[in-house]
Amino acid sequence: MLSKNIVLIGFMGTGKSSVGKQLAKKMNRSWVDVDHKIEDETKLKISEIFEKKGEPYFRYLEKAAIEQLSREKNLVITTGGGAVLDESNIANLKKNGVLIALWATPETIFKRVKESRNRPLLKGEDMKTNIESLLEARCSYYEKADKKFMTDGKTALQVAGEILAWLETDEFEFGKDWF
Ligand code: S3P
Repeated sequence: MLSKNIVLIGFMGTGKSSVGKQLAKKMNRSWVDVDHKIEDETKLKISEIFEKKGEPYFRYLEKAAIEQLSREKNLVITTGGGAVLDESNIANLKKNGVLIALWATPETIFKRVKESRNRPLLKGEDMKTNIESLLEARCSYYEKADKKFMTDGKTALQVAGEILAWLETDEFEFGKDWF
């Protein structure tokens, strides 16, 4: 039985948390969201951490949380959109996990995040342009995943189903060193 963690990476608004929650339910696993873990432990919202302590401090907390979660097994882990910018986070997550990137077009991302007040990096005059430029700068990091899934026009349940089907394919099971 596959015991590696299933790790969802991807840009803000690609549906990582909603899909992760559904996937964990389908796989009968615990779901841990890195940002939720940080918020629970600090008793602060992500936006408050950015505001009061700055982004480097948030990245430090993110790295520590990832390091800790990477030592566990059988989890569905969802990460913040910037988690993969740090090489050591990717290395840790890959050590004991399958990395799956969720993708969406800038238009879909904008529709999904435009009301959000807990995404400090998208604050500013022109959210759409912020999304486009940040997405372009980060694409190559999300490409480091073992597999990617488009989420435009799909429900979280549909995407979770696609991921599960992929995880169950022979090609995947035998093509990787699981244990
Ligand atoms: C960030 C994405 C956010 C959160 C923080 C930074 C990023 O998570 O970790 O605001 O750098 O892209 P979501 O991807 O869940 O919105």
